[in-house]
Amino acid sequence: MAAASQLLSLFFLLLLPACDAIYCDEDDCYDLLGVKQDANASDIKKAYYKLSLKHHPDKNPDPESRKLFVKIANAYEILKDESTRAQYDFAIEHPEEVFYNTAQYYRAYYGHKTDPRAVLIGLLLIVSAFQYINQLTRYNQALTWKICWFWRYRVKKLPYTWEDACYLTWISLQIPANAWKNMDESRKEDLVRRHLWEKSNMERYTSGTRKEPKRRR
Ligand SMILES: *[C@@H]1O[C@H](CO)[C@@H](O)[C@H](O)[C@H]1NC(C)=O
Repeated sequence: MAAASQLLSLFFLLLLPACDAIYCDEDDCYDLLGVKQDANASDIKKAYYKLSLKHHPDKNPDPESRKLFVKIANAYEILKDESTRAQYDFAIEHPEEVFYNTAQYYRAYYGHKTDPRAVLIGLLLIVSAFQYINQLTRYNQALTWKICWFWRYRVKKLPYTWEDACYLTWISLQIPANAWKNMDESRKEDLVRRHLWEKSNMERYTSGTRKEPKRRR
């Protein structure tokens, strides 16, 4: 799962159109809350509650105020968490390390929040990985089956098991799988006992069936 989240971070890194528009976009998170960078957690909390009351959409229907309310809430989300705050501080001090910051940001931000894009890409990745593995297994199963068949019937020359004889009969008759499945057991037994996978038996059988209906009518 760790590898998957790393892969997701990489995806966002590639998809991200503007690498500087993270955290509080073009704003400074501390400025938005009106606190200094060295403010302690309780200062930040107090500032947030004061501002969120002031700009709450219920009290202040002005659309600008609503936008500000969202921005403040976002800034608080980043600054209230010690690790995201530390990453943000690092980002302010090292603007040249944009890529590292971006990866850190997305790992922290989407690590505990469910972003619909992350879910979508994650699902796509999981589905394609699953399909890939599924195909591999099916291929391996087919290969194993072929090897077993060769070993058992060509090398050791064992008699065919009932299932394998059924399979051979069904293949030789070239009938649909469903038709074979729905056939009654006594008819199946009769056909299997004829060893139709051997050419001569098949020829005898087909010439027989061609005459049979005429004889009955
Ligand atoms: C936070 O800092 C303020 C001064 O800015 C101070 O009054 C307060 O006691 C500090 N709180 C804690 C929990 O350190």
